[in-house]
Amino acid sequence: MNRKQLIKKYLEFFESKKHKVIANSSLIPENDPTVLFTTAGMHPLVPYLLGEPHPLGKRLCNVQRCIRTQDIDAIGDNYHHTFFEMLGNWSLGDYWKKESINWSLDFLTKVLKIQKEKISVTCFKGDNKIPKDSEAEKIWKDLGITKIKFLEKKDNWWGPAGNTGPCGPDTEIFVNDVEIWNNVFMQYEKDSKGNYNLAKQKNIDTGMGVERTVTMLQGYDDNYLTDCFKSLIEKIEKISGKKYEQNQKEMRIIADHLKAAVFIIAEGITPGNSEQSYVLRRLIRRAVFYGEKLGLQNFTKEISEQVFKIYDDYPELKSNKKIILQEIEKEEVRFGLTLENGLNKFKKCVKENKSLCGKEAFLLYQSFGFPVEMIIEECKKNNIKFNLKNFEIEQKKHQELSRTATAGKFKSGLADNSEATTKLHTAAHLLLASLRQILKNENIMQKGSNITAERLRLDFSFPRKLSEKEIQDIEDLVNAQVQKSCEVAREEMSPEQAKNKGALGAFEKKYGEKVSVYSVGNFSKEICAGPHVKNTCELGHFKIIKEESSSSGVRRIRAVLE
Ligand code: ALA
Repeated sequence: MNRKQLIKKYLEFFESKKHKVIANSSLIPENDPTVLFTTAGMHPLVPYLLGEPHPLGKRLCNVQRCIRTQDIDAIGDNYHHTFFEMLGNWSLGDYWKKESINWSLDFLTKVLKIQKEKISVTCFKGDNKIPKDSEAEKIWKDLGITKIKFLEKKDNWWGPAGNTGPCGPDTEIFVNDVEIWNNVFMQYEKDSKGNYNLAKQKNIDTGMGVERTVTMLQGYDDNYLTDCFKSLIEKIEKISGKKYEQNQKEMRIIADHLKAAVFIIAEGITPGNSEQSYVLRRLIRRAVFYGEKLGLQNFTKEISEQVFKIYDDYPELKSNKKIILQEIEKEEVRFGLTLENGLNKFKKCVKENKSLCGKEAFLLYQSFGFPVEMIIEECKKNNIKFNLKNFEIEQKKHQELSRTATAGKFKSGLADNSEATTKLHTAAHLLLASLRQILKNENIMQKGSNITAERLRLDFSFPRKLSEKEIQDIEDLVNAQVQKSCEVAREEMSPEQAKNKGALGAFEKKYGEKVSVYSVGNFSKEICAGPHVKNTCELGHFKIIKEESSSSGVRRIRAVLE
């Protein structure tokens, strides 16, 4: 069974259990500023897991593209990936453990025809705060599954995806000792103080790894041999004239990183020095570095082409193909140029001391984009002492600094539905409507938003800088809506109806058959997951603190409520 067949079978199975298929969302989380990428299928569902009603009901399923970046440096084994797809099914306060476990076992044994004997599971062992999951254990036993292990929180607990939000114990399902499915019983909500509070709504969140499952079904023990990767590897073999068997690590890294890069650029991100752009830059540069090891040059475009063939079911790849390939190629060239500067810097650093200290190595890594492996290699070549431990200490210091900065900046993201973020979320709708009205431009659309408890940031399409007068008028118009005490109302309708009623939304995206539309009086109407305040009188005084360029044709406004 190949990738597409597995996805189809999974969605059909859960549709037969009255689930609605929801869209495969963006890789950039819209409502959670605490993380850079969508890391699991549940991520776009956070508002609903916290109790907002979902327009398609209480049973949902989909296949979701995901990116996990915590171990980019560890990619190269047979089953970890930066980009992967996750199949998921959810109960939003509807069915609970019994149905979830029953259906998972049915899908594996009846649809995928896996023998029961090959299946083993793990359950949560319990700790001093939360009891052992005997409920899940009993359900598995009653179904004839006998290989059950009990593990600690670090293994059998999932979430929250960001700093706060829904989480709970899970049961992990293994086939031939490879974990392929995780069923999370979301009974808790973690708050910004680190407490686990009992959730108002109990949810099920499951995630099945597409790549791993396809590998198991095709009888391999290496994900890169399946149709999720095969043509990428074959292309690398062809243009390098080398065999996969002898060059697995290099070829896996190139395939993994370029695939992830293609998907990230499809979201409108370009290589750069901060946040998602920086991850993208590192991925492309590491791919180039490993390509050079295989003797490849100017190769990224040709390899990346294969990604579009494997994932021809993603319209966002097809429609952006030209730009995506251009960006990858440009970064490959740019890396070539930076390398020269970086190597000069390297020579300067080591000229006197015959060693490279942790700080200097980190500079090469951080500012010149040198992969760690490359620093080690240059040192070896030049007979220079290099202490990897000191480098890692520097790297840790930096990570901690940025983590603290992140924690400070994002004390609570929309992920926790705090009062402050909810207010700013409504303010963002008023701002978008005001921009369109004051600038007399119907083409102004939201290009991104990022809301913390302290401020909102809205990116919108507009070709030039705003004048001071315009900024003042926009601010005044938002504040006038606050003064008017407008009701905020939520309705459910089809995307078609929403469009006809003039609701703003990203109609190029695939919406489900029903969406939530939030209206603020007669002033603003947007497709949105919420949450929002009930009345604009709750907001307080709105103030724009900065207007600047975000990228070509896109402006960015930061604003606060005082
Ligand atoms: N959200 C769960 C996971 O990622 C299902 O494993």
